Amino acid sequence: MTIGIDKISFSTSHYVLKMSDLAQARGEDPKKFSQGLMLDALSITPITEDIITLASSAASEILDDLDKQAIDMVIFATESSLDQSKAAAVYVHGLLGIQPFARSIEMKEACYSATAALNYAKLHIEKHPESKVLVLASDIAKYGIASAGESTQGAGAIAMLVSQNPRILALNDDNLAQTRDIMDFWRPNYSDTPYVNGMYSTKQYLDCLKTTWTEHQKRFNSTLSDYAAFCFHIPFPKLAQKGLQKIMDKQLSENRKTLLIQNFQDSIAYSRQVGNIYTGSLYLGFLSLLENSQNLKSGDKIGFFSYGSGAVCEIFSGQLVDGFQDQLKSSRLEQLSQRTPLSVKEYEEMFYEETQLDQDGNACFRQYQTGPFALTAITEHQRQYQKV
Ligand code: CAA
Repeated sequence: MTIGIDKISFSTSHYVLKMSDLAQARGEDPKKFSQGLMLDALSITPITEDIITLASSAASEILDDLDKQAIDMVIFATESSLDQSKAAAVYVHGLLGIQPFARSIEMKEACYSATAALNYAKLHIEKHPESKVLVLASDIAKYGIASAGESTQGAGAIAMLVSQNPRILALNDDNLAQTRDIMDFWRPNYSDTPYVNGMYSTKQYLDCLKTTWTEHQKRFNSTLSDYAAFCFHIPFPKLAQKGLQKIMDKQLSENRKTLLIQNFQDSIAYSRQVGNIYTGSLYLGFLSLLENSQNLKSGDKIGFFSYGSGAVCEIFSGQLVDGFQDQLKSSRLEQLSQRTPLSVKEYEEMFYEETQLDQDGNACFRQYQTGPFALTAITEHQRQYQKV
């Protein structure tokens, strides 16, 4: 039995901040962002678009009624959780009308947890082959106005339906994880924005990649010459590019090198326009690869490097299956170009707007553009969502 990704989709906000505008406002050379980080724009969410609306939008794009009957687990991976108790997955389960006899949970380990979720989904389906699992990875990456990480913010959600006989990617059995207890990026409960040792975090990302890949090669006899593409966690595309350079094998044929580099460029096309979406970033890279590469074919082996600060990382692979192209949209770049541009002042007001609760825990919001779901109010501390 093969198990893997049967459907995949993405949603992001309807507002965008251009990096050139941010550079001007912060007195930076625009090339620092466009070349130094390889970012062109960041998705910016209004207060009515949160991790739950983004994830629901992404999932609603791919699920049909039969899927909603077959899903018996919803796993929500996030590091921008809205509640210390109630899982975001429970809201999405309700908003999408998934059959009631399902398990709905939230998972956390920085940007890594969607990979743990994918693996849990696979193990679950090995035991229950008729089941389908909805894996959601949704985050709003917010570092603070004029902070060092401001240029690597973003927002978005990935939804993946995991099943037997998948129509996009069959997962292999070569997962290798690594954990190291470090303080490169963390967000204590009392803080809305993370604490970051920026340069240290980039070094840890690259060292985790290098050491895990070396061990992966030993344990699974893996060689880049077997891979058509390698997808990376993308906090910003330049770091992922350094990742590819870090593992690039000098013995590889020129053709293989060219293929890997070309496919890497296709895998960062969406992140360049969206910024960091934390848990979903690796899978946004995969979707971008699938929808933009002109050279992929069924049977191609794709490598994945997942990284979550703190830190846990994992390398694994999958094989594209026959007809994978039929499950995809054409490139979403056109759709991304239709987001409403914000001035830097508008971005600061919108992205950092705070909920004003009255003494009974009620709040209402201005209307903003959102996807098909929106947060409409808070009533006695309870978040109210509606299909719009
Ligand atoms: N023209 C071209 N390039 C320029 C330039 C110019 N005028 N000016 C600067 N650059 C280049 C720099 O040379 C540098 O590139 P290299 O690293 O290749 O040398 C790049 O632009 C960035 O410059 P700085 O390092 O000076 O930028 P910075 O001080 O603003 O910090 C950062 C960058 C550390 C990534 C910061 O944005 C940050 O802290 N981001 C958040 C943390 C993060 O994303 N860490 C990634 C690993 S952790 C992880 O993966 C989990 C996660 O998702 C958060």
